[in-house]
Amino acid sequence: MILKKYASISRVHMNSAVSSDPTSKKTSDADAIAKSVEGKSWFKCRPVGVGACAGQQTVPNKAFEALVDTNDAWIKKRTGIAKRHLLAEGVGLRDIAVASAQEALLNSKVAPEDIDLVIVATSSPDDLFGDAASVASAIGATNAAAFDLTAACSGFVFGMVTASQFLQSGTYKKVLLVGADALSRFLDWSDRGTCILFGDGAGAVVLEATETKEASGLLGFALHSNGKGYSNLKVPFQSKYIEVQNEEHTKIDQGEYQKMTMNGPEVYKFAVHEVPLVVKEALTNAGLTSNDVDWLLLHQANVRIMEHAAKELNIPMDKVLKNIEEYGNTSAGSIPLALTEAVRAGKIKPGDVIAISGFGAGLSWGAAIIRWSG
Ligand code: UT7
Repeated sequence: MILKKYASISRVHMNSAVSSDPTSKKTSDADAIAKSVEGKSWFKCRPVGVGACAGQQTVPNKAFEALVDTNDAWIKKRTGIAKRHLLAEGVGLRDIAVASAQEALLNSKVAPEDIDLVIVATSSPDDLFGDAASVASAIGATNAAAFDLTAACSGFVFGMVTASQFLQSGTYKKVLLVGADALSRFLDWSDRGTCILFGDGAGAVVLEATETKEASGLLGFALHSNGKGYSNLKVPFQSKYIEVQNEEHTKIDQGEYQKMTMNGPEVYKFAVHEVPLVVKEALTNAGLTSNDVDWLLLHQANVRIMEHAAKELNIPMDKVLKNIEEYGNTSAGSIPLALTEAVRAGKIKPGDVIAISGFGAGLSWGAAIIRWSG
């Protein structure tokens, strides 16, 4: 099926290469080769199964009316969010990461002991030393190396590209990537500009090595960061020094992490500017155009950002995957959560081309062009 779909794309490329019709829907092979960026085009990597798990407590917009000066109508209109799911008492980030990973393994028919590497993309681990090793252990990935990766809401895209490098090099054959966040842990529940936006959730994908371009499921990518925008979205560590009563008067830092702060309008402007550009860049690296995209799946931060990006990319809204209404912004969890729901619902078919893009704190942003083969 996947080969069939790819063959049909290739055929159109070949046909359009000899066609003089400038309105031809697909890019030609020649265009693709000319445009593709060495090292950022197709990879020996494909997604074979996904899973997801959201927080267990559902919190509708109305619940915020008791906390801050806001209302359901404002939140829906300005963000597209109707509710979000928060971790239940006694449930950790590792728990939802493990549940999503188990579903991804089941769907991919890959045995846990065959996983070579576990990456957990998160900014809100249960343990600052990292959750990946304990997630690997809990799912029985006894032969896997494991580490956490922090790139905030871009974490899943950055994680997928990181995983692909291990597969491309031949170092590993199977990687489990989890995107998971519980940013509710860092929210200031008196700040209406942030507390209404976020939910807790996780999603996972099993990626496996492939040999040929025809079988590849990562067709191109683009990643960017700009620390100059750092202060627009942050959860900083605030130092607080105490002096030890020794001869040296040693000062030790006993500070702690602060609540999240965000300059919403600035992050919004950054997102609407950069997201369409980075998706186009990744498509170019893949030798494709917007016309080749079956599904556009953006980080679920604001439905208005999705609408704007879709318009810029000339992709109709019925090709945009969204579940922000149900979950809000789940940071690194948002893309794999929406991907899993679309696969579960049978929307995404083998061979479909999906453009994914994550963006957020750092500032960081990126896009990857996937061909589904689960
Ligand atoms: O995941 C990482 C990436 N994150 C994002 O991409 C988020 C990007 N930013 C956004 O999505 C939007 O900026 C927000 C949803 C955060 C805010 O929406 P906005 O339309 O940009 O609102 P604003 O901050 O410009 O505020 C407009 C008005 C202000 O009132 P005044 O000054 O005009 O009287 C705000 O105080 O809306 C007010 N406001 C609210 N009112 C009711 C801000 N938050 C709320 C609220 N309820 N929750």
